[in-house]
Amino acid sequence: MTEPVRAVAASLLDDVAKGSSLNKIYDRAERSVADSEQPFLRELVYGSLRLWPLYKGVTRQLLERPLKTKDAVLEALLIMAMYELDECATPDYASVSGAVDCCEQLGRPWANRLINGCLRRYQRDKATLLKSLGDSERAALPGWLHKLLSKSYPEQLDQLADASRQRPPFTLRINTERISVNDYRALLTKAGIDSRAAGTSGLTLVQPVPVAQLPGFQDGFVSVQDASAQLAGLLLSPEQGMTVLDVCAAPGGKACHLAELGATVIAADISEDRLVKVTENASRLNLSITSIHSDGRSLHELLAPASFDAILLDAPCSATGVLRRNPDVKVIRRKSDIDQFTALQNELLQSVWKLLKPGGQLLYATCSILLQENDAIVGRFLESEETAHSMILPKTIGEATTYGQQVIPSALGGDGLYYALLEKPTP
Ligand SMILES: C[S@@+](CC[C@H](N)C(=O)[O-])C[C@H]1O[C@@H](n2cnc3c(N)ncnc32)[C@H](O)[C@@H]1O
Repeated sequence: MTEPVRAVAASLLDDVAKGSSLNKIYDRAERSVADSEQPFLRELVYGSLRLWPLYKGVTRQLLERPLKTKDAVLEALLIMAMYELDECATPDYASVSGAVDCCEQLGRPWANRLINGCLRRYQRDKATLLKSLGDSERAALPGWLHKLLSKSYPEQLDQLADASRQRPPFTLRINTERISVNDYRALLTKAGIDSRAAGTSGLTLVQPVPVAQLPGFQDGFVSVQDASAQLAGLLLSPEQGMTVLDVCAAPGGKACHLAELGATVIAADISEDRLVKVTENASRLNLSITSIHSDGRSLHELLAPASFDAILLDAPCSATGVLRRNPDVKVIRRKSDIDQFTALQNELLQSVWKLLKPGGQLLYATCSILLQENDAIVGRFLESEETAHSMILPKTIGEATTYGQQVIPSALGGDGLYYALLEKPTP
């Protein structure tokens, strides 16, 4: 028995608004709708979340009285319906009647006039309603983040906000050990899939396709990986046989890249479930990667000191550089979460540094655009750790910061990743 797609989407959005992480609840919801409806579910859910702060600002104006907490799903329904009206190919009358029908499906038949009235008013008065939004609402960013970004990136604020509202690019990393970028591009063209170059070994598809349609995917010719994430392997550029520890490795995008480049990779992660993905990805790519289920903060108790030629610390972070891929962050993240991330980032860095050989390099990476999680972490570490110094990154990949480089996300470009390379000098 399948469930109606719009009602499933509204319930899912309501769960996110109540604090659930989309990753944890999405797959189950997806299985409850018909296969043919799954792309539409994704569009409704991800799209609504990318624009959530904007439509929430409109909803505030549309509702004469705030909804009761127990009826918050109706706010999610309104946001989703406005997204569908504005961004989907559905005829307007079908979007409105689809949302009205949801009231019954969501156990609130009494709300159908309210939803109908609000959506009709949105269609009529859209320009005025949008004009009355505050700056952060118009940018579709949560207020706290808009404030932080206005200070750190006054000139790039519009670009950052715009990137966060877009569907993310679908980029492939070509396994150049197996096939050249040009030859793979020719295979794509033959399969009717248009692409453009992205970095040294990447191709971005003009239109995303299911991975099963990608030539040679099961044979390990390519992996799906954003252009900015592909830089980790290139920045560490391991020599053949070098031992590299990837501290927060799952699902293994960067770990597999390092192994493709010839490194012997040990992949650690705190999540056993997510480590399974590392094994699956490595096996598809015919790579051998050893995985360790461990909190990165305890790895120095499990592994011999100074035993790795290089370390990748792709630290857990606010994900503010990848909002378009993780749009629930716009809804569930709070400013106070940042302090918890920075405490963890500090501890991880202190702890895994002990595992690096003298002369070795550690690449610190985040998918954050917040200074607190990036240069501030590296700066504090360099002050406290006499055996570390920061290196100039060998390639220009983004904007230079005090210790590293920051990719500023843009609509067509890569995600907002930060990288800093630290070296442990030989005594
Ligand atoms: C940004 S993701 C890593 C992405 C991965 N490097 C890739 O390229 O596919 C962060 C990872 O850190 C893991 N993690 C979070 N806290 C951790 C900890 N204390 N120790 C080890 N791993 C942790 C999460 O389970 C998650 O898989």
